[in-house]
This record gives sequence, structure tokens and C-alpha cells, in this order.
Amino acid sequence: MNTQGLPATDPQALLEAVLASNSKTANSRLKQILDSAIRHLHAFAVEADLTPAELDIGLDFLVAIGKASGPKKHEGILLADILGVATLVQLRNARLALAEGGTEPALVGPFWRAHQPRRADGECIASADTPGPRLTVRGRVTSLDGKPLAGARVETWQASPKGLYENQDEQQPSMNLRGRFETDADGRFSFVSVRPAGYPVPVDGPCGELLAAQGRHILRPAHLHFLVVAEGHRVLATQFFDSEDPHVHDDVVFGAVGSLLKTFESDGQGGFAIDVELRLQRGETKLPKCPLP
Ligand SMILES: [Fe+2]
Repeated sequence: MNTQGLPATDPQALLEAVLASNSKTANSRLKQILDSAIRHLHAFAVEADLTPAELDIGLDFLVAIGKASGPKKHEGILLADILGVATLVQLRNARLALAEGGTEPALVGPFWRAHQPRRADGECIASADTPGPRLTVRGRVTSLDGKPLAGARVETWQASPKGLYENQDEQQPSMNLRGRFETDADGRFSFVSVRPAGYPVPVDGPCGELLAAQGRHILRPAHLHFLVVAEGHRVLATQFFDSEDPHVHDDVVFGAVGSLLKTFESDGQGGFAIDVELRLQRGETKLPKCPLP
């Protein structure tokens, strides 16, 4: 036994002592989360047979994640994304809606901006000099029972055909390929854009080093983001993916799932069109944290 009365070599006694130290945490949900994190962290250290040097490497990695984050980039979001944790949490959080036919969620991601421009129904979100084939998007927002949701706020954002969001690309005007629409009395909205391209996740930080160490590719399949806000309903964040993209079954952030894959149909005039359905579950309307101003 050591001076605290712990058997020095007993991991279970150590775990129980650490859990006991958490027993007075006043916030019950925080206590539950910390208890679980402590149990899994200890089990992880035992299963991986972690050495002190390896623990130091891991802690230095977490420090590097923080240092690489700032107003233009959130390396922590990227870490949760490339480990599949963000997708897991979103799918778990939506499981009740999914059981009743709700639209599958997908990551908000790091590129949503807080003040995307309001646009009229049918408006083009691409500046005149944006290259690439035209894409017409028609959508409908409904409740799980199929009732149309009028006046819903529909935010969309996407990368250009070069695979860059406007805030990553000096060639694009500010707020290009972004918009905020409102559904009509039948829950419908539409806009014109260009067909997006897939893009690499940022790899100039510690997550890039991790992906390289894992021998993984760094690409997301082409997609359009949506965030839908309707009174009395849970906010839906999702993405629709180009089913012809070579990485549509191999998304580096594991966001491309079954029903979100879309065939971009020819519009007969050299462009493409997609129809999207956004089915929202009743509940508290709470906006996710916006990563960019
Ligand atoms: Fe994206």
C-alpha cells in the first residue's frame, strides 16, 4: 500500500479512487460524462499498455490541436471529424427522428458562417465568374408527419468546383456559394448554384500529421451543406453528396451515409439538378455553435 492507502500496482483501485474524487461534482450530467471518460481513459491506457513517453506524445498532440485552432480554423472539430466521433454523436442524437423517417444528419463542419446572405427563392448563389456546370437545387422542408413547414430558414454553403470555400479562396467574392432562404407556404425553396467538387481537409496542422501517420487519404466527396431551422422543431444539419464522386463511399470524415447520396440528374442543358427532402423532428429549436463569423 502507498501513503494514500492504494495498492500501488492495482489499476482497479486507482480507477475507483479517481471515480470517488469525482463524486462531489455538482452538475449531475457533467459527473456522468466525467465518470464515463475516466473509466474509458483508464481502460484505454491499460489496453494500449501506454508508456509514459507515449502519454507525453499524446498530451503534446492535444496541445498542438489547441495551438493550431483560431478564428479561421478549428482543429478540434477536425479531430472529432477524422476519428468519426462527430458523425457518431450526430447519428446517435438523431436516432429517434431516423426511426420515424427523419432526414439523416451530417456534420455542420468548420465552414458554416454566421451571417450568410439572405436570398430570394430561385436566386443564384454563385457569382457570375464562378466556373463549373450549373446546378439547380429544389428542396422541401417538412415535419416527420409530412406537414410542410412554411417560413423555415434554410442555410446552404458549398465548395466551388475547385474544391475551395470562399473564405479559403482569394479568387471568390465574400460569401460566394452561400445563402439563406425561407420556405414558402408549401415548405419549398430553390436556388441555382454550380456543381461542387470534393476537397481535402486541411492538413497543415496536427490532424494532417495524424492522417499521414495512418496512411489515409485526405478527401471529402463533393457535397452541399444544409442547416434548417423551423419553429418548434429540432435544427437539422446535413449534407447531400454527389453519388458519382470517387470518394463517396470513403469520406475522410465518415459523413457520407446512405440516404444522403444524390444522383445529380442532367437538366438537358449542360447542367444538373437535384431534389432534396429535409424532414425535421419536433422539439427544441437550438442552433449549433457557428464556427466562423
Ligand atoms: Fe463541406
